[in-house]
Amino acid sequence: MKVGVLGSGAVGKVLADGFLKHGHDVMRGSRDPGKLADWKAGAGAKARTGSMAEAARFGDVVVLAVKGTAAVETVAGVGPAVDGKVVIDATNPIADAPPTNGVVRFFTGPNESLLEALQLRAPKARLVKAFSCVGNTLMVNPRLAGGKPTMFICGADADAKRQVTGILDQFGWDAEDCGGAEAARAIEPLCILWCIPGFLKNDWTHAFKLLRP
Ligand SMILES: NC(=O)c1ccc[n+]([C@@H]2O[C@H](COP(=O)([O-])OP(=O)(O)OC[C@H]3O[C@@H](n4cnc5c(N)ncnc54)[C@H](OP(=O)(O)O)[C@@H]3O)[C@@H](O)[C@H]2O)c1
Repeated sequence: MKVGVLGSGAVGKVLADGFLKHGHDVMRGSRDPGKLADWKAGAGAKARTGSMAEAARFGDVVVLAVKGTAAVETVAGVGPAVDGKVVIDATNPIADAPPTNGVVRFFTGPNESLLEALQLRAPKARLVKAFSCVGNTLMVNPRLAGGKPTMFICGADADAKRQVTGILDQFGWDAEDCGGAEAARAIEPLCILWCIPGFLKNDWTHAFKLLRP
């Protein structure tokens, strides 16, 4: 599979490395691709870099891993390059404000989500929320007590969610399909919960798991 990863940050790196590890071809995108030169030099023959639009065009599957406040603008910027494609949305709507007692501040309200805003801006993209409720160091084949953790996903397109479920399986996660795009209103705030032990106790090595009888 060819994967375009939009993001020069920690999430973009970890997921790009994860896709490479599992045998896929990857192009990472940035407004300034030059800053990804060191990554490209060390990432092997299947790794490329380019602009955000070039990475989006390259991917059969596209990963959105940019700052939440820049996500809609980034999707708007790549335009039709994501039309018809599965877009894995790892972003969270974190505001440019410090946490309060370890509680991160969002720029979305409770009956809104960033995924829905992105889907509105790119109606032909097949967006799936995934990887948003765990820290980057645990995104690819995490080793945790208690077996596979759960990745909560959602999106309007059932086939896109099936594809992302396959990717999550490869990356060591049980996918829990929470339904349509609106479910991102519940999934995105899991990021706030996930960060609390980190900010309060410097404990960043946990993941959610849904338990059933
Ligand atoms: N860090 C984590 O562990 C974690 C876990 C789960 C989810 N997330 C979410 O994943 C996303 C990426 O997080 P991150 O920590 O890897 O990096 P980040 O610092 O949140 O984002 C870096 C990326 O955002 C882009 N960006 C920043 N400002 C921009 C602007 N004004 N216009 C256009 N693009 C802009 C940068 O583009 P350039 O390359 O062009 O500079 C870069 O690619 C975020 O939405 C975050 O909430 C993070």
